[in-house]
Amino acid sequence: MNIMTIILAAGKGTRMRSEIPKIMHKIADRPLLQHVYDMSKQLANNKITIVYGHGADLVRDSLKHLESRWIEQKQQLGTGHAVQQAADQIGDADTVLILYGDVPLLKLTTVQTLLANVNEKSLGLLTVNLTNPKGYGRIVRDSSGQVQKIVEEKDASNDEKLIKEVNTGIMAVKGGKLKSWLIRLTNNNAQGEYYLTDIIEMAVGEKIKVITNQPSTEDEVMGVNNRMQLSHLERIFQKEQADSLMEQGVTLRDPLRFDLRGCVESLGQDIDIDINVILEGNNRIGSNVTIGANTRIINSIIGDHVEILDNCIIENAVIGAGSRIGPFARLRPDTVLANNVHIGNFVEIKKSDVAEKSKINHLSYIGDTTVGSNVNIGAGTITCNYDGVNKFRTIIEDGAFIGSDTQLVAPVTVGKNATIGAGSTITKDSPENQLTLSRVKQVSISGWQRPEKKQS
Ligand code: UD1
Ligand code: CA
Repeated sequence: MNIMTIILAAGKGTRMRSEIPKIMHKIADRPLLQHVYDMSKQLANNKITIVYGHGADLVRDSLKHLESRWIEQKQQLGTGHAVQQAADQIGDADTVLILYGDVPLLKLTTVQTLLANVNEKSLGLLTVNLTNPKGYGRIVRDSSGQVQKIVEEKDASNDEKLIKEVNTGIMAVKGGKLKSWLIRLTNNNAQGEYYLTDIIEMAVGEKIKVITNQPSTEDEVMGVNNRMQLSHLERIFQKEQADSLMEQGVTLRDPLRFDLRGCVESLGQDIDIDINVILEGNNRIGSNVTIGANTRIINSIIGDHVEILDNCIIENAVIGAGSRIGPFARLRPDTVLANNVHIGNFVEIKKSDVAEKSKINHLSYIGDTTVGSNVNIGAGTITCNYDGVNKFRTIIEDGAFIGSDTQLVAPVTVGKNATIGAGSTITKDSPENQLTLSRVKQVSISGWQRPEKKQS
């Protein structure tokens, strides 16, 4: 079966009150349209066409990575008119699947059931029963329960308005038939639009059976029309992801206060995640890892037995097994920590490698640096890696001990097992095994008196 998916995405989304086209708004950091695209991409033998219109340049520009045919609908004259724009591309034998770009949580299994109902003698229509069907097209059935037509809210009689079964807009139908019906659509209705839904009555007239199926939940077919619905679907989506992680053995202290914006590419056992943790992009997390509250981890690799304490930001970093990070640590891009490294509070590390068992425990900035193994970097150490124009590297060899409040002015090397005295400004290489310090001599002045306030 060759499938042609047509994603309708030309609508404006006035109620979003936004400069950004509706389908560009995001759930879990992915545009609504991309959710729909990614789902349908999983269907075999499928060609995707996106009908776009509002915010055309922006939509195409920011989603040009999607492998799709793009068709612009210059004026939005209705769902039928939108599909007409793609009619030239539809093959007679294709099974055409109609999706909406603003219905992001639709499930593959639901679509597969829909597609299985399509042949030359039948079409598939996804419907749902709503306690409050207001605004939707109603599914009109005859006394034997066969679908007769869809009537839009604005065209419905009072009796029809009582029908709770509504059209989700999602349907699948053979290409040849669809094309023959599309050319017959008119806009003689309350909204003066070309309704795609009118094809149902035409199909019934040709003895094509309308086979309906329903989604597993209402949320699957909910569209986003305003920011309340956007946030509602975000939470539904997040809850699904949280459930999936818990099924895979992750402890989430509170699944309602956890966000995954991307994917966890690999997942160890017995991961324990405290509240308000955000995982962004592609992360890999080993076994027996604990992640403290209020931590954000972006595109990183976390080894086994790593302990990340509260309030850390970790981006494009690698953390070796047994390491301990935070609280309040920031690992910036290209930080690579070997095993059993300790990074403490208020430490920022950027573009640096830190070898095994080294410790940077308090209030330090380490940038563009290679740190050897068993190095101890004292509180308040700063690598001065930038002269305002260029960046330079600092090298701290194995076993070095950097006293507190030291500035290392790069490019500079601290030799193996060297000791730097506290409060030093190191501008030249420091030899191995020696104590190096640069410090103003301490003086004490005897008989010195504090100034006193003059009596007035
Ligand atoms: C449509 C259905 C209605 C169904 C409802 C479900 C029709 C006539 N009505 O109504 O039966 O209950 O969806 O939400 O089909 N779009 C375009 N170009 C257009 C018009 C719409 O691309 O010219 C796109 C929109 O961007 C949106 C989708 O089609 O993604 C549906 O459009 P919308 O205006 O929301 O349809 P409704 O009138 O609500
Ligand atoms: Ca709608």
